[in-house]
Amino acid sequence: MLTTNDFIPQAYSHNIESGEFQWSAPSNIALVKYWGKKDNQIPANPSVSFTLNNCKTITTLAFAKKDSSTPLTITNGKFSFDLFFEGKPKEDFKPKIQKFLERIEIYLPFLKEYHFTIDTQNTFPHSSGIASSASGMAALAMNLMSIEKALNPEMTDAYFYQKASLLARLGSGSACRSVKGQVVVWGNQANIEGSSDLYGVEFPNAIHDNFKNFQDTILLVDKGEKQVSSTVGHDLMHNHPYAERRFAQAHENLDKLIAIFESGNLEEFIKVVESEALTLHAMMMTSMPYFILMKPNTLQIINAIWKFRNDTNIPVCFTLDAGANVHVLYPENVSKKVLQFIKDELVGFCQNGQYICDHIGNGALSN
Ligand code: PMV
Repeated sequence: MLTTNDFIPQAYSHNIESGEFQWSAPSNIALVKYWGKKDNQIPANPSVSFTLNNCKTITTLAFAKKDSSTPLTITNGKFSFDLFFEGKPKEDFKPKIQKFLERIEIYLPFLKEYHFTIDTQNTFPHSSGIASSASGMAALAMNLMSIEKALNPEMTDAYFYQKASLLARLGSGSACRSVKGQVVVWGNQANIEGSSDLYGVEFPNAIHDNFKNFQDTILLVDKGEKQVSSTVGHDLMHNHPYAERRFAQAHENLDKLIAIFESGNLEEFIKVVESEALTLHAMMMTSMPYFILMKPNTLQIINAIWKFRNDTNIPVCFTLDAGANVHVLYPENVSKKVLQFIKDELVGFCQNGQYICDHIGNGALSN
């Protein structure tokens, strides 16, 4: 089994003065949820997600060796970088990037040798309530790995993607599931070969055709800033009265999904996925301090989905992130009917009638 030491490089074989890379990385939607962590972004329980396709971050990373003729923007005397969001300087994102670079410095010893220009944009509206940390951190990690690969061209693809996921994880836990593969597992699970707490891996077992091109329509219920960040939420799982049982349940649900992915049993899929979503929010409601991220319209949508499913037998279900938005999940062959249902009955619960149509994708891409 690999350890963190395996990702600390020896001397590089090449020397590079400057260059530029561009990667896009998608968001992902967890089916079994990560909520609670140990030190160094090690998850308290394993999780599995569908990689999305349309909701992504596109990041260009330019780098140039620091020398006396380079005008430097020194941040904290350590890392030198400029940050642009949608073409404009974005000072308020900088502390998060600074912290990320500090965390990953041990794995990328070249970081202090260069000045970086990070230029980033999302395909989804910034204030949509869709977390951009997963796609954003994954896109940045991919670019940094492209630099490392240029310094060490002998690097294997396996190492490249594993380390990209490990770095992304240190930026935002769920980001490690946005690197490669359609269905990604993060966290040690006895029955999933290769699974690791350190990085995400492509789900290695069989996946039934029912899940091919699975659809995720994201209903934007509340686009405001979250009242409680996921960092705070994760922390509240320490000394949480139900934590241990919850972590054990995540393992059980992941085992159930292994069988469900193979058989294509959508009824069982729905049970696991909806229970996971509600359990995540139950953990928030039962922590101390307690909090609620769902909004009245979140519940309206859930009830409407349940009624529609009962009335029609169409296998559509919901999941939730750490927020009020609802992800509506369904197989491709019922798309037409579900989209009509969304337009007829759910759009009214969305802020400004907004929703985003997405589906399973393959992971990060270099341009
Ligand atoms: O990656 P973070 O720290 O933003 O945590 C994300 C947690 C959930 O989105 C609620 C669940 C998950 O597994 O993605």
